[in-house]
Amino acid sequence: MSETSTEAAAELSVAPIEDGDVPVVVALWQRCELTRPWNDPAADIALARRGSNATILIGRDNGAIVATAMVGHEGHRGWVYYVAVDPDHRGKGHGRAIMEAAENWLRQAGMTKLHLLVRPENTKVKAFYESIGYEEQPRVMYAKWLDGRETTP
Ligand SMILES: CC(C)(COP(=O)(O)OP(=O)(O)OC[C@H]1O[C@@H](n2cnc3c(N)ncnc32)[C@H](O)[C@@H]1OP(=O)(O)O)[C@@H](O)C(=O)NCCC(=O)NCCS
Repeated sequence: MSETSTEAAAELSVAPIEDGDVPVVVALWQRCELTRPWNDPAADIALARRGSNATILIGRDNGAIVATAMVGHEGHRGWVYYVAVDPDHRGKGHGRAIMEAAENWLRQAGMTKLHLLVRPENTKVKAFYESIGYEEQPRVMYAKWLDGRETTP
């Protein structure tokens, strides 16, 4: 796996998700408080795996699933969602490593820029993204559910 700046960084082995990983990944996202009532995580995984423009990368430390990133593109920019490291395995460089794997996946898909969204209340994660080279960009995000639902928070 790629180098990390954490001296005692543990090795993270990264591969695309397989069917048997899905329940473990959903449980990890719940533990990391990344799930929302309006998103069915298993359905999100299935949709991301439907085409070749997206996948969920899974990071294993000694065989155990400890990190994830949903990565994909719409033909112009790359995006990541569900960036997560198991709370018991944080601070070991796994977040940096799974993001490097997502960046490499996007480079191979021909993308030159990665965008990501952070909820304003998630202040801790800002330091993480800044440590790995991301900069906040002054943009306003607009959204609309395409099935007619009211806007969710
Ligand atoms: C954010 C998250 C993925 C970081 O994972 P991690 O494995 O602990 O991160 P790493 O060990 O790879 O840290 C990489 C760098 O970020 C910094 N960093 C990570 N978490 C940090 C925090 N909470 N506060 C300050 N800096 C932090 C590290 O110090 C390190 O910096 P350095 O390389 O300059 O020393 C993890 O905390 C997480 O899963 N959080 C909950 C889910 C979440 O909020 N996901 C993002 C949604 S947008």
